Amino acid sequence: MSRIETLIASMTLAEKLGQLTMTAASFTVTGPVIAGDSTGSIRSGEIGNLLNMVGPGPVRAVQRLAVEESRLKIPLLIGLDIIHGHRSLFPVPLAEAGIFDPVLWEATAREAAIEGAADGLAMTFAPMLDVSRDPRWGRTVEGSGEDAFLAVEMGAAKVRGFQGTNLAAADALAACAKHFVAYAPVTAGREYASVDISERTLHEVHLPPFEAAVRAGVATIMPAFTDLAGIPMTAHTALLRDWLRGRTGFEGVIVSDYNAIRELLNHGVAADLPEAAALALHAGVDIDMMADAYRHGLPIALERGLVAMDQIDMAVRRVLRLKEQLGLFDDPYGRCRTHESDAIIARRRALARKVGAQSLVLLKNDHDVLPFRTPMKSLAVIGPLADAPGEMRGPWPAAGVAENHVSVLAGMRAALPDAKVTHAVGVSIEDDDTSGIPAAMALVDQADSILLCLGEAAVMSGEASSRAHPGLPGAQAALASAVLTRAHFLGKPCAVVLFSGRPLTVPELVDQCEALIAAWFPGCEAGNAVADVVLGKVSPSGRTVISWPRSVGQIPIFHSERRSGRPANPADRFTSKYLDSPNEPLFAFGHGLTYGRFRYSNLRLSPQAVNVHGSIQVQVDLTNEGGRTACETVLVFTHDVVATVSRPLLQLVGFARLELPPGKTATVSLAVPAPRLQFLGADLSPVFEPGVVEVLVGPRANRADLLAGTVLMQTG
Ligand code: BGC
Repeated sequence: MSRIETLIASMTLAEKLGQLTMTAASFTVTGPVIAGDSTGSIRSGEIGNLLNMVGPGPVRAVQRLAVEESRLKIPLLIGLDIIHGHRSLFPVPLAEAGIFDPVLWEATAREAAIEGAADGLAMTFAPMLDVSRDPRWGRTVEGSGEDAFLAVEMGAAKVRGFQGTNLAAADALAACAKHFVAYAPVTAGREYASVDISERTLHEVHLPPFEAAVRAGVATIMPAFTDLAGIPMTAHTALLRDWLRGRTGFEGVIVSDYNAIRELLNHGVAADLPEAAALALHAGVDIDMMADAYRHGLPIALERGLVAMDQIDMAVRRVLRLKEQLGLFDDPYGRCRTHESDAIIARRRALARKVGAQSLVLLKNDHDVLPFRTPMKSLAVIGPLADAPGEMRGPWPAAGVAENHVSVLAGMRAALPDAKVTHAVGVSIEDDDTSGIPAAMALVDQADSILLCLGEAAVMSGEASSRAHPGLPGAQAALASAVLTRAHFLGKPCAVVLFSGRPLTVPELVDQCEALIAAWFPGCEAGNAVADVVLGKVSPSGRTVISWPRSVGQIPIFHSERRSGRPANPADRFTSKYLDSPNEPLFAFGHGLTYGRFRYSNLRLSPQAVNVHGSIQVQVDLTNEGGRTACETVLVFTHDVVATVSRPLLQLVGFARLELPPGKTATVSLAVPAPRLQFLGADLSPVFEPGVVEVLVGPRANRADLLAGTVLMQTG
């Protein structure tokens, strides 16, 4: 018998349920702490997995209890939310997605895994694959934005990065694709609210990233807290068991979200804990995180005949198999051994700086205000986010401590050692107190240039951080107005850097300022990354991966909207539009300027006709007509003109990046495999329908900025 089968044969029910239980060690907490002190339960084999524990010392100590003092000596599986770095934080996923570079996406996940594993961890609860089209929803920051294709590409890269090529390696983490599935479209953007979307949207938008993660070999998957049309995902047999396990062939571990099994009672689908536990087990949930529903509920469920022992054994088998794949049986302390030298950490921070700078999105740059001209005698760095190292972490900071983060003020001072760099907060992030504005204005009067740092606090996005008014909080609009008006009057260059975990509804700010950078939350090297871009050492190249609404009334707003029978026409009242707002977003998906100026020309598509086995070669010439070397991201969209099911106006099918010096022209080439032109027919099965497909190429999801050609799709 194999090690796993021998173990299962010798386990008591309590020991089996211990392997299906994950409990918090109180490092970070996102819900009620139920378990209390776990030491005794680890020894007795009644807790087999932990979350939220960090550091080789503590990890070694608890692991020792399991492998030396418990009867069966089964190692613990220990996990943490390593979302965008562990101790050295990288930009939040929403920011990093806008770099459109799978190699970098994978590289930062690899570094995060190396660092997390050196701290004794074997699992991360990432990547988050939820496609979000509603910026009110705070968790938008944890994903790759509004586009399904991007979520597919980035999710797979993250899985590869976290897990490496061998899960048993001392620097590999088991990844966890979450939250399965369709958590983002919560009603009205309100966290944890009910979800009700069409089967088509589920299959076209929300399921593909999970299918891709399974193909990339993801070790674990976490169901969402939410229900889908009345069935909570934690108990969703049709999607978890039939689709995920049955259709994609996922054989890994399904771990519940925090206390989610107990919350089946709140959803109103279980009358007591044994029923809740039975529902989750039937659906295929292997590990119960923080609800203690399996430990306390399954013994009763067994007595009642609601579940069978072989279902429990199956879940135990999957958990033990994961521990075996992670090499935990062979070397339970393997991940605590790696020593990270200062040189390794410095290299990681250099990567964080590079990725941080690349993720900044230059939304506006009238009169080439940026980069600021250097040398510079004086600079005023103003605003509540200017000297806020802790905020630079963004939500889910894992083990990243505030002191390890470079604020904008510190970054600018380091970059301008000979200049006088002054600072005033003006207002705080959220208060209405405006008494600090005059002091900030005095600095505007004295400085040559002004950098205004505004936005959200890190805790205003992430879990349980929905906002009904996702604009500038507190009195920041008043500060912005005062500073921008004064700087304009004095003719001084002034740029705004906006920190946030979502696009903000800031049309007035956009009108008032000449230069605006969406910095999201750039991570540990934030200030240096901002300095690199603001002072022109790096040309910005980040793109927004989510449309910026002008107002909450436009939400949901996204580029892959379907057509209308009455497309917007300003001359015709009875067409699809608002009386009081343009239809168009403030900034479209893909928007982001560089310090170059790129002209697209000569779009070539070949062959002219393609069948489902073929591939379309897309070529376009790019000329940098600007004065600086810059990197441009080219987006490729398609639009199926006539189909049996109305197709999105723009569907992202490819992207590429190219760096070009001023005055140079180069050709970008990329292949779009024909299966990307398939869609789900009326019965939701994939079809490749003959007919004309438009291919549109350019920088952002705005038809006027795209070159278009056509290709014929044909059968046979
Ligand atoms: C979140 C998950 C997270 C878990 C563990 C929950 O509240 O929804 O995304 O992985 O906590 O920290």
